[in-house]
Amino acid sequence: MSSLETRIGQWFERIGEMTPENTEARRDVELVITKLDDGQLRVAEIAPGGDVVVHEWVRQAILLLFRLRGLERVEVGPFEFLDKLDLKHDYERRGVRVVPGASARRGSFLSPGVILMPSYVNIGAWVGSGTMVDTWATVGSCAQIGSNVHLAGGVGIGGVLEPANAVPVVIEDDAFIGSRCMVVEGARVGRGSVLGAGTILNPSIPVIDAETGEEISRGYVPDYCVAVSASRRREYPGGEFFLPCVLVIKRMEEGERHNKVALNALLRDHGVAT
Ligand SMILES: CC(C)(COP(=O)(O)OP(=O)(O)OC[C@H]1O[C@@H](n2cnc3c(N)ncnc32)[C@H](O)[C@@H]1OP(=O)(O)O)[C@@H](O)C(=O)NCCC(=O)NCCS
Repeated sequence: MSSLETRIGQWFERIGEMTPENTEARRDVELVITKLDDGQLRVAEIAPGGDVVVHEWVRQAILLLFRLRGLERVEVGPFEFLDKLDLKHDYERRGVRVVPGASARRGSFLSPGVILMPSYVNIGAWVGSGTMVDTWATVGSCAQIGSNVHLAGGVGIGGVLEPANAVPVVIEDDAFIGSRCMVVEGARVGRGSVLGAGTILNPSIPVIDAETGEEISRGYVPDYCVAVSASRRREYPGGEFFLPCVLVIKRMEEGERHNKVALNALLRDHGVAT
């Protein structure tokens, strides 16, 4: 355990007393945020065995930051903002393309080759190289997005700062998340998988194999699946209702790209789309 980690733990025990006047705590916390911003630290990552490991102390530093900073007014042309946190800077050095209307908070990490259409990336989020965050997509706090992912227009990737030890949303490399999907509360989409437009995925939603009818998991779409939004019949004393589920309609070979997704990637490579 590093001494920085130990100190953050100690400050966090006293989070109720923290104010912007506590300069010592603020120095430690700001250091963690700088390291997050440059990708030297992560809130969570996938361990070699495949489990998601959460570095709770890093998330504690983010929670402390909100206590240690006061509101500041920022004016940009005719716009006025009032917030506690800074925005990210230095995109040219980072090799990240940022279309006007996009914003990412300092303390999120964007790898080289990321494209931000007018979208939002919150603190603690980590986005891998070559990933496209399309128009009106939001990447919530601490969400972990892999490389060469496409988050299509209006996708909502949920953020998680509390409760303690809550697992953030994880989207693995090469996944395609269709327009207006909502992936929240620690849900996970495996490598190379495609989530059809408008799918809602959270840890209460059953993921069902269309071939066998079996429930594969709750809130987790395994690698190289094509999954769409569906509904399942449930009986209640009050009647029969249809609750959402996610249906795996196809399994692809490892490394395979779904043809519609491949077309999208091709258009992008040639600068035709977005
Ligand atoms: C999931 C998707 C990739 C499936 O494509 P596909 O493998 O070619 O499958 P099909 O389109 O043949 O659809 C298979 C079945 O699933 C259904 N289906 C397809 N997409 C669906 C969706 N988003 N929600 C619910 N059902 C869907 C189809 O109606 C079809 O049903 P049928 O067998 O009764 O006809 C595609 O439909 C999709 O949603 N793409 C994302 C589009 C998008 O968001 N683009 C972003 C713009 S950049």
